[in-house]
Amino acid sequence: MREMMQNMREAALKAILESEDVDSLESLRVRYLGKKGELTGILRQMGKLSAEERPRMGQLANQLRAELETALEQRRAALKEALLEARLREEALDVTLPGTPAVLGHKHPMYNVLDQIKSIFLSMGFEIVDGPEVELAEYNFTKLNIEESHPSRDWTDTFYFTPDSRVLLRTQTSPMQIHAMETKPLPIRMIAPGRVYRKDEVDATHSPMFHQIEGMVIDKGVTMSDLKATLNLVVEKIYGKGTVTRFRPHHFPFTEPSCELDIQCHKCGGRGCPTCKGEGWIEVLGAGMVHPKVLAGCGIDPDVYSGWAFGMGLERLAMGEYKITDLRLIFENDVRFLEQF
Ligand code: DAH
Repeated sequence: MREMMQNMREAALKAILESEDVDSLESLRVRYLGKKGELTGILRQMGKLSAEERPRMGQLANQLRAELETALEQRRAALKEALLEARLREEALDVTLPGTPAVLGHKHPMYNVLDQIKSIFLSMGFEIVDGPEVELAEYNFTKLNIEESHPSRDWTDTFYFTPDSRVLLRTQTSPMQIHAMETKPLPIRMIAPGRVYRKDEVDATHSPMFHQIEGMVIDKGVTMSDLKATLNLVVEKIYGKGTVTRFRPHHFPFTEPSCELDIQCHKCGGRGCPTCKGEGWIEVLGAGMVHPKVLAGCGIDPDVYSGWAFGMGLERLAMGEYKITDLRLIFENDVRFLEQF
């Protein structure tokens, strides 16, 4: 019996040491120490032993059980430790490795142009104001002296929110003139850049959303020559010294007199080319002297104060400056396009 236990001890210890995972350890425990295990099997034969041998064998069996239990426990701990180490090795993060750099964009080309214009007007003492894109028809049209029957008020041209045509998406930044006159102390020198909305189909030169910059000066003794001098200066700063301008008579309901400002095509010098569509001139903005009715409607006495205003399209300006031929490129935000600026 002693020999049987000896053999079992060696076999069990070897198997325990060689086991590779916790599951096989458990089956070894069952096999050797379980209720129906080998040790129990050996002990069953105790009956054959003499009375003095029995306790000795019993003691040996207990020692063996303890020894195997310890071996099992040690092996289990070793396996657990190895498992943890393997996992740590596998999941190791080398914080000294160089990272993947995040791709940084840059300012949109149109906002470069806007920033340039802002700084020109800031340097002349204008303030920059911001206002609502969801606007009342009263501000977008009525207070700007735009009559009820004007085509731009049509539902086919303008995005309305309410069936009574009272609330809309502003179609121009000109309502900012009214907001400024109603809220600001005189004199006023302001520009108001922002989004405007019209029911246009998208094509190379049209989009239902685009940007305008409104400008306005209200003071005593302001005349058309102030308008011309200021806008000529702005054009020179944007397009370069010596750029030839032309103030062409036009009509806007909220200015009197009204004009449009053209610049001589910088590409062909006025001879006519694809850039100016053969005209020799490029239209830059609409402008005029603020209509006395508009001043009076805002509580400003037109006999004491006068003013001028202008409105220009920002996309068109950016397209001219960067030789962009399709308006859609400005809004698509395709990185391959934006990267070029
Ligand atoms: N709001 C006009 C438009 O969208 C542009 C404009 C013309 C603005 C004359 C003005 C102005 O301030 O005086 O076509």
